[in-house]
Amino acid sequence: MTRAITLHNVSKSYIRGARVVERLSLDIRPGEFLVLLGPSGCGKSTVLRMIAGLEEVTEGEVRLDGEYANDLPPSGRDMAMVFQNFALYPSMTSRDNIGFPLRIETPGEDPRPRVDATARMLGIQDLLDRFPNQLSGGERQRVAMGRAIARHPSAFLMDEPLSNLDAKLRNHLRAEISKLTRESGATTVYVTHDQAEAMSLGDRVAVLRGGVLQQLGTPRTVYGLPANVFVAAFIGTPRINLLRGLVRAPLDGAMSISLGKQYLRLPEPLSLDHQLLRVQQGREVIVGLRSEAIRLAKPSAARPGEVAISGLVEHVEFQGHEVLVHFNTGSRPAVVPELEAPRPTRPARRRRREGTVLDRLRERAGALRAGPVVVLEHPGDAGSDHSDPAPPDGRLPGDLVVRTTPDIELRHGMQVPLLVDIAHLFVFDQHGERICPAPARLPDLEE
Ligand SMILES: Nc1ncnc2c1ncn2[C@@H]1O[C@H](COP(=O)(O)OP(=O)(O)OP(=O)(O)O)[C@@H](O)[C@H]1O
Ligand SMILES: [Mg+2]
Repeated sequence: MTRAITLHNVSKSYIRGARVVERLSLDIRPGEFLVLLGPSGCGKSTVLRMIAGLEEVTEGEVRLDGEYANDLPPSGRDMAMVFQNFALYPSMTSRDNIGFPLRIETPGEDPRPRVDATARMLGIQDLLDRFPNQLSGGERQRVAMGRAIARHPSAFLMDEPLSNLDAKLRNHLRAEISKLTRESGATTVYVTHDQAEAMSLGDRVAVLRGGVLQQLGTPRTVYGLPANVFVAAFIGTPRINLLRGLVRAPLDGAMSISLGKQYLRLPEPLSLDHQLLRVQQGREVIVGLRSEAIRLAKPSAARPGEVAISGLVEHVEFQGHEVLVHFNTGSRPAVVPELEAPRPTRPARRRRREGTVLDRLRERAGALRAGPVVVLEHPGDAGSDHSDPAPPDGRLPGDLVVRTTPDIELRHGMQVPLLVDIAHLFVFDQHGERICPAPARLPDLEE
């Protein structure tokens, strides 16, 4: 059995007035694997717990197969929940741990055939007679997963079930979860803050920020047509390059986006999306360039649609199969406040107005929750020439990260020609909303 889970304008406040989930609407189809993705504290677990019936819905409706279910107790929902920290009964063997819910649900029925079948699926047949303290963390996790699966629930609700495991086991179990949930046909809602996990598992991904849905779409859509800067920056590694730019659209000349000391000239004839950018003439925008949109090559090697810029090598990150090169192009990065994790860096000069900007951002925290993504660090001077290319505190040097093959010899301080594929250019407005490609194109990729 499988079921449709619908959230209709669901809000949640723990403390009166402070909403941690804000008018969330989601239509989760029967059998679908939906991932709730977002940074820590954005409300993912709260949403999952409301679906499970473990948390009261403050406003709005939860419907199961179209039926109003706000007041349905967890036991009446036929859902199995899997948590980050699986709790197994220490005094029971794996067999009894898996069989326990079955014995409660269907007393009188021998749970063994179902326990054995589940163990075979999970490859834990040899562990059935062991106690939890005789199992490794990953094995325990599988037993706990078995306990959820053996019941054949109509929906699985999984809250970061893999986050305590090492990378290898995580990958392995990720594939297993995907296979098992698809085979069982149960609807799955899976919570994670790991975008790679979300992209690899989900039929669709719902990106949350401050309790507000930012975008709901297939992994391909949220990566290829992010609705705003937050989604663009949250999804994809290395992080999308976000640069502050200024649109220049003279009536009698070529259109370009100025990036501090350099500019991107939009190739003619202008695409429809680029023509639509004309109205932004003279305005500050945020340019988004994924690392695959840029390559190391001379201007003479440019293909149609590629434009030349150059960058000074600041830092080379060897990754084995590839190399990430951090360039300084003389432009200023735009910042998505919640996503700026402190990273080990060389000391950077403090900026004159930093305190004020942070203060301003804090002041706007309320608006940020629900509203647009404000990312400009120094509104007012984008596109101008500036002599201070120092990165903001807490960031790696450089403003542009490009992927390349490990065989290219690059040294700090080298000036390198780059080609930017304008077909892969994203432009966001000052509020962080995507304006190029134009938002109207979104439904194309959706289904
Ligand atoms: N019982 C509670 N009482 C008050 N506030 C709560 C309660 N539970 C959660 N919150 C708050 O609600 C917000 C969302 O919490 P939630 O646990 O849903 O986030 P999350 O996205 O699951 O985060 P994480 O990735 O860290 O698990 C947080 O700001 C949290 O502090
Ligand atoms: Mg959580």
